[in-house]
Order: sequence, then structure tokens, then C-alpha cells
Amino acid sequence: MAKEVQPGVVVVDHPLVQHKLTLMRDKQRSTYSFRQLMNEIGILLCYEVTRDLPLELRDIETPLEAMKAPVIAGKKLVFAPILRAGTAFLDGMLELVPSARVAHIGLYRDPKTLQAVEYYFKAPPDIADRQVIVLDPMLATANSATAAIDRLKERGAKDLRFVCLLAAPEGIAKLRAEHPDVIIYTAAIDSHLNDHGYIVPGLGDAGDRMYGTK
Ligand code: PRP
Ligand code: URA
Repeated sequence: MAKEVQPGVVVVDHPLVQHKLTLMRDKQRSTYSFRQLMNEIGILLCYEVTRDLPLELRDIETPLEAMKAPVIAGKKLVFAPILRAGTAFLDGMLELVPSARVAHIGLYRDPKTLQAVEYYFKAPPDIADRQVIVLDPMLATANSATAAIDRLKERGAKDLRFVCLLAAPEGIAKLRAEHPDVIIYTAAIDSHLNDHGYIVPGLGDAGDRMYGTK
């Protein structure tokens, strides 16, 4: 279940996703449970973002007879998690698509300027020929998402999607303006950003809550 709520923005409103997201927002949730839920929602969002992958027919033999059966066409997907918080999402998605390739993008947000600072980038060499799904649970100012997508496009990526758990209207507007070709998938769109660039009501700092670093 997913709805295109504005051009290029899809909200995955499946009840399981919404229920798990509510559990994650609760400030009493343990680090372990938060990470586990992120992983589970990753699986559910992966199901939606891959819904329209192209299929081709392959000749196989069942125990009864030969048939032409559908398999996913083309090269394997690339998942591109933005570190750190994208990694638990990645784990869930790789459970569903274990043969996908992975492009790790290390970015952190400077707490004063809110600009993204890159510290790591490693991608498969042929991303130009593959669909790339960028993963980051939080789309706040969108500085991290736009920096990651800029970098992937510099390396030749042409077919990209962005998957997050929570988005702020400000981040959606910026990402759509900078990269109108990239469809955004999110479980929810929250009210606004606060003065520190945090999504409100949000769920706090996703990386810290996932790894117990605060
Ligand atoms: C968080 C989050 C996103 C980014 C979103 O990362 O995981 O990557 O902020 O904010 P933006 O849309 O305003 O750029 P953070 O910089 O805290 O790094 P971390 O995941 O390593 O904690
Ligand atoms: N990054 C987070 O982890 N949470 C926010 O609310 C904004 C950016």
C-alpha cells in the first residue's frame, strides 16, 4: 500500500509500517528494539520501492513440465546507504534482495551549518548500468540526500530512487528541486524542522538511537 501524495513523493501507508514507525518514535524504545524495527521497516519499504522492477521470462522446468516463468530483468540493484543510519535499513533490504550490490556513502551533518560532510565513498564501478536505491531513514534539510545523489550522479548513476522513514516538508521540497528525477519513498511526512534541523515530531537522532551513542 503506497500513495503518490505529490508528484515524485510516495508515502508507504501500510498498517505494519505505520505501527512499527509509531513504536520507533516512542522515546522509551530500547536501542536493540529501535534497530530491529528499522530493519523490519526496511524489508517492508523494499517491497514497495521494488514493486515496478521489470520482469523477463525465463525457460524453466517444474517437476511437471517446461514453462516460461518471470524473473527480474537486467543488472542487479545497488543499495546506497548513507552512513550511519542507512545501515539498518540496508540489512532489511538485503534480506529481501540478497544479490544486490552496495554503495556505502559516509556523510555526517555539521551540527552548526547543517551541511553534509563526506568521509567515505565506495560504489560498484558500473552504477551507470544499474538502478540505485539511496537509503537514509531521515530526510530533514535534505543536505545529506542531495550530497549523496550528487556524488552518485558524478559516478554515472542515472536511475535513482530515495527511500526514507521520515521526511520533513522542507527536505522534500529541496530534494525535489535539486533532483526532480529521483522519486522519494517515505513512511511519513512530519510537520516541520526545528531550529536545530531536527524533524518534528520525528524520532530524534536516528543514528544515535540505533547505536546507543547518546
Ligand atoms: C542524520 C541522518 C541523515 C541526516 C539527515 O545523519 O541519518 O543522514 O542526518 O539530515 P539532513 O537531511 O538535514 O541532511 P547524521 O549526520 O546525524 O549522521 P549519523 O547517521 O552518522 O548519525
Ligand atoms: N537527523 C536525524 O537523525 N534526525 C532528525 O530529526 C534530523 C536529522
